[in-house]
Amino acid sequence: MKFFIDTANLQDIAEAASLGILDGVTTNPSLMFKEKISGEKAVLEHYKRICDLTDGDVSAEVISTDLEGMKREASELIKIADNIVVKIPMIREGVKALAWATSQGIRTNCTLVFSAGQAILAAKAGATYVSPFIGRIDDIGWDGMSLISDIAEIYAIQGYETEILAASVRSGKHIVDAAKAGADVVTCPLSSFESLFKHPLTDIGLEKFLADHAMGSGK
Ligand code: E4P
Repeated sequence: MKFFIDTANLQDIAEAASLGILDGVTTNPSLMFKEKISGEKAVLEHYKRICDLTDGDVSAEVISTDLEGMKREASELIKIADNIVVKIPMIREGVKALAWATSQGIRTNCTLVFSAGQAILAAKAGATYVSPFIGRIDDIGWDGMSLISDIAEIYAIQGYETEILAASVRSGKHIVDAAKAGADVVTCPLSSFESLFKHPLTDIGLEKFLADHAMGSGK
């Protein structure tokens, strides 16, 4: 399973990259807003800065909701760097834009996916990635993780090549459960990755090993 970081914060991306296990970055307009990046030029420049921090795929989202606008934006975004993946929303015009992008050899991430039916449409349109939003489904009292397993089952039966990118992931448990459910990729904030490191028995065990080493060395 690939690890993407879900942020537009350059420090967090650099920190995640320094772990040596980062495979890419996802962003969205809300994450750009959080970093106070606004205006087309500034947004494109920020994507370039992100691409400079990783060789992995960087999802850059279109703002347009009509086909021609999405095509225009996609054409601009892919000029930034070879690792740009154009993020396109799961709407009627978005499916047309995905199919167009596929025909042009442009890699895509179909975002805002909340049902298996939408995931089938994304795969049919040739999306490189499909992004089911686990946390937001949990937020309304449904089971986000079962959507990942449903999509994994359908894609395996149908032989779809679109990769399942578990998004809206908010905890280490989400990451582990997404891996078990068949996600190809997980994207989440740095804090969720960091929670994977933590186990009290690791800390207790290391403290004892180091103490015993010090005793043995006569320190
Ligand atoms: C995915 O690509 C989205 O940017 C993201 O995972 C949304 O997460 P959120 O529901 O925590 O905002």
